[in-house]
Amino acid sequence: MDAGIAKMNGVNGSHTQRSMYIEENTQKAGAISLIFSLKEQVGALAKVLRLFEEKKVNLTHIESRPSRLNKDEYEFFINMDSNCDNALDEVIELLKKQTVGHLHELSRDKSKRDTVPWFPRNIKDLDRFANQILSYGAELNSDHPGFIDPVYRARRKQFADLAYNYKHGQPIPRVEYTEEEKKTWGIVFKELKTLYPTHACREYNRIFPLLEEYCGYREDNIPQLEEVSKFLQSCTGFCLRPVAGLLSSRDFLAGLAFRVFHSTQYIRHSSKPMYTPEPDICHELIGHVPLFADPSFAQFSQEIGLASLGAPDEYIEKLATVYWFTVEFGLCKQGDEIRAYGAGLLSSFGELQYCLTDKPELRPFDPQKTSIQKYPITEFQPVYYVAESFEDAKQKVRNFASTIPMPFSVRYNSYTQSIEVLDNAQQLKNLADNISGEMETLRSALKKLE
Ligand SMILES: [Fe+2]
Repeated sequence: MDAGIAKMNGVNGSHTQRSMYIEENTQKAGAISLIFSLKEQVGALAKVLRLFEEKKVNLTHIESRPSRLNKDEYEFFINMDSNCDNALDEVIELLKKQTVGHLHELSRDKSKRDTVPWFPRNIKDLDRFANQILSYGAELNSDHPGFIDPVYRARRKQFADLAYNYKHGQPIPRVEYTEEEKKTWGIVFKELKTLYPTHACREYNRIFPLLEEYCGYREDNIPQLEEVSKFLQSCTGFCLRPVAGLLSSRDFLAGLAFRVFHSTQYIRHSSKPMYTPEPDICHELIGHVPLFADPSFAQFSQEIGLASLGAPDEYIEKLATVYWFTVEFGLCKQGDEIRAYGAGLLSSFGELQYCLTDKPELRPFDPQKTSIQKYPITEFQPVYYVAESFEDAKQKVRNFASTIPMPFSVRYNSYTQSIEVLDNAQQLKNLADNISGEMETLRSALKKLE
């Protein structure tokens, strides 16, 4: 069991709501426990025990006490041999039919939770990702434009080292970009800017001038991640975090749950300013950043991140595909027009033009279908998905997330910058209290407006 899950079990409030049975919290590996109640009558327990005997379920511990929920009932806590797991479902069905007042599977719930992959519970936990990168940012493929350039490779190593040593809460290190790097940025910036009025969504065009005004977005200047991150935080609470290399989809998406975007800081090779085989600072700052300053888009992105926390591997792949067709290559309706909002489009001069021609196929965004669509990564997309709006896309992702098999729901607490696992009555009560507080504010504001 890894530390994250151990902590999660530790907050299971059902343990704090009532007194414990002797063996209830021993957490024996693989033990299966059950609590059930029976009407107080002669032979009731014997009848139940016979069921276990018939199904060859071996009981290793049994305790009883008067039920606190119903005065006429007795409550029993039992432990079973873990290799009886298969027969247990049958026994439970039979129990429900004939005898039982209430029935609660205890440690099988725990063991289900134990199979949930680790996920960060606090924003500081994202520091762990630096040690989990799939390839270090200084390792280039042989077909990378900078592969045979020792100066570029050394520079890439500097950037990777900066990010590797970064810890949550520190300012993102400032970088003095070289004249050559600034020239590369300038070419990309100037060319792309000409397309935005006709190709980018209105939210992008609303925010871009603010970045020019407040964050040093200029042809002759590569903005500093720290300044951009502060700007984003003031708009939507999103922030940037430098990343030393390629993260797994699971880790990358988990960052979004905390409104953290993992960003590269290096720039593409100067020999091919209009091409990069991987994300670079042009892609991040020009493609991604503007929309993270939009409240609806920020919420939509976080929704994908939250859905990914603890999700099974096949759903991580699906969510990464949804991310690909939205945050990277999404199109959206704006009145009678269709515009681009995906960062992969907004940072590619060629594909931004191509995506709005009649060559690609456009389909309505539908996470169930979008999440299983195959896509090429080295050429223009043959298929794009069109969102009705960010709000609509967010709701659709939320509905999709509810189909992911998970033993609990999660919620982001922005005050503590941590993920709350909603798996017990106390957590749900806290949430309900929060919502009712917000409802009061809404009611009072509406009244004042009247
Ligand atoms: Fe990207």
